[in-house]
Amino acid sequence: MEVFRLDFGFGLQAGKMLAEVVEGNFPEALLPLKEKIEQANKNLLEGTAPGSDFLGWVNLPAEITDASLQEILAKAEEFRAKSQVFVCVGIGGSYLGTRAVLEALKPQLSAAKKGSPTVIYAGHHLSEDYTHELLELLDNTDYTLCVISKSGTTTEPAVAFRLLRAHMEKKYGKGEARKRIVAITDKAKGALKTLADEEGYTTYVVPDNVGGRYSVLTPVGLFPLAVAGVNITDLVAGAKDKCRKLTSAQIDWTRHSGAQYALYRQYLYSVEGKKVELMVNFDPRFFYLSEWWKQLYGESEGKQHKGLFPSSAGFTTDLHSLGQYIQDGERLFLETVLSLDNCDKHVEIPSDESNLDGMNFVAGKRLSYVNAKAEEGTCLAHSEEGGVPVLRIQLSQLNEYAIGQLIYFFEYACGLSGYAMDVNPFDQPGVEAYKKNMFRLLGK
Ligand code: PA5
Repeated sequence: MEVFRLDFGFGLQAGKMLAEVVEGNFPEALLPLKEKIEQANKNLLEGTAPGSDFLGWVNLPAEITDASLQEILAKAEEFRAKSQVFVCVGIGGSYLGTRAVLEALKPQLSAAKKGSPTVIYAGHHLSEDYTHELLELLDNTDYTLCVISKSGTTTEPAVAFRLLRAHMEKKYGKGEARKRIVAITDKAKGALKTLADEEGYTTYVVPDNVGGRYSVLTPVGLFPLAVAGVNITDLVAGAKDKCRKLTSAQIDWTRHSGAQYALYRQYLYSVEGKKVELMVNFDPRFFYLSEWWKQLYGESEGKQHKGLFPSSAGFTTDLHSLGQYIQDGERLFLETVLSLDNCDKHVEIPSDESNLDGMNFVAGKRLSYVNAKAEEGTCLAHSEEGGVPVLRIQLSQLNEYAIGQLIYFFEYACGLSGYAMDVNPFDQPGVEAYKKNMFRLLGK
């Protein structure tokens, strides 16, 4: 079942060309990029380009077994039973996927899944005040935690875990603390692996051939999400279905959403000179999905002085801050809208006899109707008047299955897009520069 579609209707010239592609006609201007993306597809499926040792995510959804899900669910159930708070320690790819999925589903979850622990994140920054507050809160709260670090050596989560482990051992004693900690890390190397083995923590493995930003469908995302009450079986089912559709040796350009998205953004970048892709939404539940997407695309494409800069905004909130620039400032952007067709809840705007606020023109209308008109009006203003190509990713539902599809779609399109611009989408050499300086300044 398809739960989203790409709407190129506001995509200006690029959108028109992509609409033709969907119809089965390939405009000549797109032929060189078509070739590049078809080669990129081959690279992903056959492992024939730099980064091929990090392609474990390509078939990952298909390889997730029921038994492995059951094992994660059983441990998660144990944690759910004994925690009011679940602390999730990690940064970058070891944190953003979990938060993206959880925040997208949270309102439904809070209603449907009473009794789920509150998830609190740690190790994703170095704020002393935040950490102090967290430790204080945990003094009087029953909690469990998981620490996630593929390398097992990243400073932020390692420092947070040192503090939390000490807190937990003091609060519960070493023996019980061991039962309240799960470590997710490399199968053999890294300080976290050594520590976890020494302490006998339950440990899940981040596969060698899956990089951090592609790891949400490994235990990195699946375990914390299961503790939070997310239906990980449906999440994986969505990813599996999308994986089946996108991983074909021959791209069917009329249907391959990943190739279409990669082609569209690469055309705008390399031919029209757009430098920034702005991911926007009209629902705050998508905030962290955009954060996850920014890391995925930023770390995958931003190298060798190349790449679209991934940025994001939440509308209509940011129409009152960034809206002016998007409409009228430098023409840097393409805009991609995460758009939700359906709304589960019902809120109708009441009529008011005095109409002092002048809002009776929307009386009797649902809030989602007003939001949809704001979205349509924005797409029109930004594209037709502002000259910003706007692509809409239209979701028909927001649930675990839909997010699973979306995650895999973005991952696959990112692999295609990165290879099409001749970079290795699976390394991140630039991340080391700040660490080197920080370690020198700290006297490591
Ligand atoms: O995508 C990546 O590889 C990075 O963003 C990592 O996920 C991030 O740096 C955290 O690394 P680690 O899981 O090794 O602590």
